[in-house]
Amino acid sequence: MALMGRVALVTGGAQGIGRAVVEALLRSAAKVSVVDINQNCGDSCKSELDAEFGGGSCAFIQCDVTDGDALRDAFQKTADLFGHLDIVINNAGINNEKNWEKTIGVNLTSVIKGTYLGLEHMSREYGKPGGTIINVSSMAAFMHSPHQPVYTATKHGVIGFTRAMADASVLGNYGVRINVLCPAFVDTPLLQSVEEEDNMGKFVKFKEDFKRSMDKFGVLQPSLIAEGMMRLITDTALNGAVMKITCSKGIHFHTYEPMSAGARARAGPREELPAPELSASCEQKPDFMNEKTFTPTNTRPSSGPAAVDAPRPQASPWIFSFYCLGHFEQILNKNPTVLLFLVLWVS
Ligand SMILES: NC(=O)c1ccc[n+]([C@@H]2O[C@H](COP(=O)([O-])OP(=O)(O)OC[C@H]3O[C@@H](n4cnc5c(N)ncnc54)[C@H](O)[C@@H]3O)[C@@H](O)[C@H]2O)c1
Repeated sequence: MALMGRVALVTGGAQGIGRAVVEALLRSAAKVSVVDINQNCGDSCKSELDAEFGGGSCAFIQCDVTDGDALRDAFQKTADLFGHLDIVINNAGINNEKNWEKTIGVNLTSVIKGTYLGLEHMSREYGKPGGTIINVSSMAAFMHSPHQPVYTATKHGVIGFTRAMADASVLGNYGVRINVLCPAFVDTPLLQSVEEEDNMGKFVKFKEDFKRSMDKFGVLQPSLIAEGMMRLITDTALNGAVMKITCSKGIHFHTYEPMSAGARARAGPREELPAPELSASCEQKPDFMNEKTFTPTNTRPSSGPAAVDAPRPQASPWIFSFYCLGHFEQILNKNPTVLLFLVLWVS
């Protein structure tokens, strides 16, 4: 998918990961709307980008993504300014365990709102030609972080929501690909906030544990996250993909147990994800939260589609046959009709 003339909206685009993604999009000749709450940071971001890429390719719209009306206006302003919308990156996020309801508002509720607004501007349901949405989660969604319980919950939520919406897009023929990106630790201002009591509340006492994890697993540069993001944007085979970016494995994808045959048939054909790819852009570190798919071997679901599709255990007719042969005489003496029935059943 060529990006020349495409229009992207990036929330939280004024600094950190969002800013790196904005620069990558501008380098690919896309037009970009930077939507961010931070006026000063957004203004200086805009003037630096104008100096580098020329005026007219980038707009800054000051907006708090938790304000539904303001977010709706930001989407509309972007479409009015550049004529249409093709790419939405729901990236704005915070790390605040003290005001955890705000964390849910920014990290999860606003991602849901941003996805729905993106569909209003791009989906065939609304008479639009299609597009792509990428929601930013985190490797925190694959670990239990005692230091960030609510942040962790929001990032789990982003993955579940995105995967469900990707299937809805296929079933509803929206023409919009919806994917999720999960970076490990990235060198941005957000990562500094883990040491602040104002952000972490009572969990700040676990900060040494968190910092040990950072030392052990390494810290990525935003440019590598932008590289992964560009792949999700341009690879038209990807829908419902969960991209992970870690120091140990670079850019790669999480794999899940396939759905049951019944559910798969209802969902229709899905695109195969390409083989995982390593990136050499990061120093190799120990394997970080390597995904493992777990298949229970000693349990069987009692309800749901999996229960219907799973093979049922069967009593072997051979064991029964050997029993009958061993007691042939007794069975014959007692009831020949039973014997005849048994022979017919076994055969
Ligand atoms: N830095 C990491 O280690 C890391 C790791 C995994 C995932 N992430 C995720 O990546 C995304 C970007 O994080 P980052 O590290 O670049 O953070 P950052 O703090 O450097 O940048 C976040 C940007 O979002 C903006 N923002 C915050 N609240 C907003 C709001 N209510 N409305 C609009 N804009 C708002 C900020 O002003 C800022 O420009 C977040 O979703 C974060 O959870 C970060």
